Amino acid sequence: MTTHTIYSTALVCHIIGIIMMAGTTFSDYVIFKQFWKQLAIDKLKGIAVNQAMSKSALLFGLGFLLIIISGIIMMYITHGIFGEQTWFRIKFGLILLIVINGLIIGRRQGVKLKKLLAWEAPAKNVEDDLLKTKRNLNLFHISQMVLFTIIFVLSIFKFN
Ligand code: HEM
Repeated sequence: MTTHTIYSTALVCHIIGIIMMAGTTFSDYVIFKQFWKQLAIDKLKGIAVNQAMSKSALLFGLGFLLIIISGIIMMYITHGIFGEQTWFRIKFGLILLIVINGLIIGRRQGVKLKKLLAWEAPAKNVEDDLLKTKRNLNLFHISQMVLFTIIFVLSIFKFN
């Protein structure tokens, strides 16, 4: 296998990883809108929509793994030349932000939402917390999508 073939294969894997990671973020944003709509009409329907998203985190994680492995292979083949370029340094910082945002804000709000959905009777403080979680999750998804979009632009234009 030539170096060119290995590089191209890694780039294909990089793109598949991007589809999985960024794709779940974009689709979660859209499905969450549906979730809040259904929850307002019928709690059980809302929970069903929420359960339909349960595999998102796994897909996101697998995509990230694929991106990292393929990225490292491409860096190895190019002797880390991209690592010295401005676009890559900014990209790396933004990747860290995506991970931190996901682990701290995304996961925390997801756990909070599950707890709130487990409440049997509607209570005033539960309604308020749901509203807060809705706003936080919306901001979380929008910020992740913005970060992904900046990474796409940087990686394709490779500003230096
Ligand atoms: C959230 C994580 C990441 C996203 C969304 C992302 C996205 C992208 C995109 C859209 C491209 C352009 C593909 C093309 O030219 O067709 C690219 C290229 C590249 N990525 Fe990433 N990437 C990520 C993480 C990484 C990591 C962690 C590394 C290195 C360890 C890496 C290394 C590279 C390299 C070397 C290229 C240049 C490939 C080329 O143009 O020949 N990426 N990335």
